[in-house]
Amino acid sequence: MTDFDQIEQQLVERVRSSKEPQSVLRAPELKALYAQIRTADDKAAFGAAVNQLKQRIEAAIAERQSDTLAAARTPIDVTAPMDVNARIPDTLPAYRGSRHPISQEIARLSDIFGRMGYAVEDSREIDDQFHMFESLNFPKGHPARDDYDTFMTVEHDADGDPLIAPAHTSTMQYRILKKYRSQLDRGEAIAAIVPDRVFRNEDLDARHEHTFYQVEGVYVAEGVHAGMLIATLQEFLQEYYAQTLDVRVNPFYFPFTEPSFEFALSCPFCKGTDSTCKVCSGEGWVELLGCGMIHPNVLKIADIDPAVYTGFAFGCGIDRLVMMKHQIEDIRHFESAKLDFLRQF
Ligand code: FA5
Repeated sequence: MTDFDQIEQQLVERVRSSKEPQSVLRAPELKALYAQIRTADDKAAFGAAVNQLKQRIEAAIAERQSDTLAAARTPIDVTAPMDVNARIPDTLPAYRGSRHPISQEIARLSDIFGRMGYAVEDSREIDDQFHMFESLNFPKGHPARDDYDTFMTVEHDADGDPLIAPAHTSTMQYRILKKYRSQLDRGEAIAAIVPDRVFRNEDLDARHEHTFYQVEGVYVAEGVHAGMLIATLQEFLQEYYAQTLDVRVNPFYFPFTEPSFEFALSCPFCKGTDSTCKVCSGEGWVELLGCGMIHPNVLKIADIDPAVYTGFAFGCGIDRLVMMKHQIEDIRHFESAKLDFLRQF
């Protein structure tokens, strides 16, 4: 073995074992060889041989570095069987996506109200206390505010009150009245619905969610009375369910309507025959919506003269509407993201 071969062997060995293989390029043996070029008989040949030796050491260093990198990589567990010759992957089932049942039904009810002449508006997911309470005739400290306990943000509105996630779509009444106010001057009615998401601090059960959907309806013109309200709701519900329905209308209380009513549908699960029914608690009726004639104060706050114009409003739980339609026994399925449930629609 020549000196060259011996030196190369030692240096390559050092590259393999050193923590810093790059440092081998500064090895004294290599420096000594470079120093000998000056005194060599055939400087060119000796210099070329030293350079070739250095290149082989550099190659050994590069090989060592790529081995180190590969070892540091986290091993990937390939769980899906892979067939590189397959034309298309067949390991992942290709289910067709579908719209959420609530979205489908919002489209349907918007279509029905649209055909009845109602505009469709969106609500908001963060609102202020003026739209949540003051504009709806709930003065500060009004006990009925407690029925609409909801989520609050740490940010505040101009009055220093926390911004909130709206507990009902009635937060949009003032905006609807203001936006369409000029229609009254032209002799046209204000007619709009707001189907959107609402939030409440709620004890959850088969009928109560913390996040659910309501559709608000607002109608204002001259000479509007409660009979028109009942007829509108009955017409809508019969069109929606495509059948004649048993409905119950009871007097109720909301600060923003006077008089106020509660609409209930007969329970499609037990028809009132099962005292343990999870949906109606054995009552035989499921409360579907609140409604009433818009309170004169609410009209006044929105610059509408209650001596000239009257109107009605309603707020219907969309989840419950859909539960009745598809005989869904628990409201919590809607937000559960369970594919077995969602793929049925
Ligand atoms: C209201 O929210 C009023 N804003 C309705 C209203 C509008 C009255 C306009 C007058 C004029 P209430 O809290 O009763 O009222 O809710 C209305 C409907 O929303 C209920 O009938 C029910 O169908 C639905 N709902 C209420 N709370 C929940 C809940 N936690 N989970 C699911 N649906 C609910």
